[in-house]
This record gives sequence, structure tokens and C-alpha cells, in this order.
Amino acid sequence: MQAVIAGQTVELVQGDITEQEVDAIVNAANSRLAGGGGVDGAIHRRGGPAIMQETARRYPQGCSTGSAVISGAGNLRARYVIHAVGPFWAGGDQGEAEALAGCYRCSLELAVEHGCASVAFPAISTGAYGYPLDAAAEVALATVCEFLERHRRPALVRFVLFGSDAYQAFARALRRRVGEGQAQG
Ligand code: AR6
Repeated sequence: MQAVIAGQTVELVQGDITEQEVDAIVNAANSRLAGGGGVDGAIHRRGGPAIMQETARRYPQGCSTGSAVISGAGNLRARYVIHAVGPFWAGGDQGEAEALAGCYRCSLELAVEHGCASVAFPAISTGAYGYPLDAAAEVALATVCEFLERHRRPALVRFVLFGSDAYQAFARALRRRVGEGQAQG
């Protein structure tokens, strides 16, 4: 499914984020940048050790929740990996939505600063961190659409969703945001 927001494309696909040919892929990292399971495990496995060597050298203090840092992409097809730290879901009244929005916004700022025209995101925080899919999709799409309306870059933001539940949650949120007729495919 695709929609055009302020002249730029927002796209939803079902798939594996490590296979994306885009300028930057976003990792669902932890604040120690220590690696882990899910997207983080897959990115470091396929990207090779150069990615963690670089983040350890450049960001020894890690990365706070709601923020993001950038590195090279090792053996992946992308040019950069942006390591975004989403919040752990603790019921919804602990600032989770602000933190989730913050890590999407910060990732997009880093992508634009580094000249990326295309960025692929996973559904940050919806795996090990337990953020409910529908609520996460709403925040993710609102934040990305507001960024595109304001900055008119990057040209392509792709959400790479693992499984049909995640895809359907993002598709519902995108249709709600742009209206039924504006979300194609
Ligand atoms: N491609 C796209 N999406 C994926 C992939 C993949 N290869 N693998 C999993 N997903 P998670 P979080 C989906 O757990 O919730 C790690 O241990 C998955 O189904 O990767 O932000 C880190 O080190 C889910 O919908 O990230 C942190 O400690 C979404 O990606 C912690 O997990 C995010 O799931 C971060 O937890």
C-alpha cells in the first residue's frame, strides 16, 4: 500500500528489513546499542561485525530512549543503519507515545542530514518491547506524515512489516490518516 504525503511516498510492505535496498534502514535497538533479538539481531547478523564496532567506537554512551544514532551498514544493501531506541510498553501512561514519536523523528532528521532519499523502518517497539500494534502504527504514521509535510524529505519512507498482523495495523492507520481513496494498493 502507498500514499503520497506532501509529494513524498509512504509505503507499507510485508517483509524483512535487512533485505531492503534503500539509503538507510532503521534498527529497533536498545539504549546500550548492545544488539539483541528481532530486527536488531537480524541486522547485526546480516550486516556483520563492522556495524557494532562502529557504534561502540562512536557512541560508547549508547543512545537514550526516544532518540537515534547512525552508522554505516556493513554488508547490508543500505548505505546507513539508523539505530532508534523505542520505549518499552508500560501501560501507555509513561510517555511511551512521545518516546516512540521521538525516535521516528530523530531517525528522519539523521536520514535527511546524511542525504538519504529513501528510508525503511520496522514497527519499532512492537516486538520485545510490547507496544500494541495499532497504537504504535498510529504514532509511527502520524510522526512520519508530519515530518514529510514539514520538510518534504525524504522522498520515500517504507515501513517493512513482519507478518500480516503488523501490516494490517499499519494499513488501517494509513487509511485513517489519508482517507480511504488516497491509500493505493
Ligand atoms: N524485518 C522486519 N521486521 C522485523 C524483523 C525483520 N527482520 N524481525 C522482527 N521484526 P523487535 P522492539 C518485527 O523485537 O520491540 C531487541 O532485542 C517484529 O515482529 O525487533 O523495538 C533489541 O536489542 C516487531 O513487529 O524490536 C531491543 O532490546 C518489530 O519488528 C529490543 O529487542 C519490532 O520488534 C527492541 O524491541
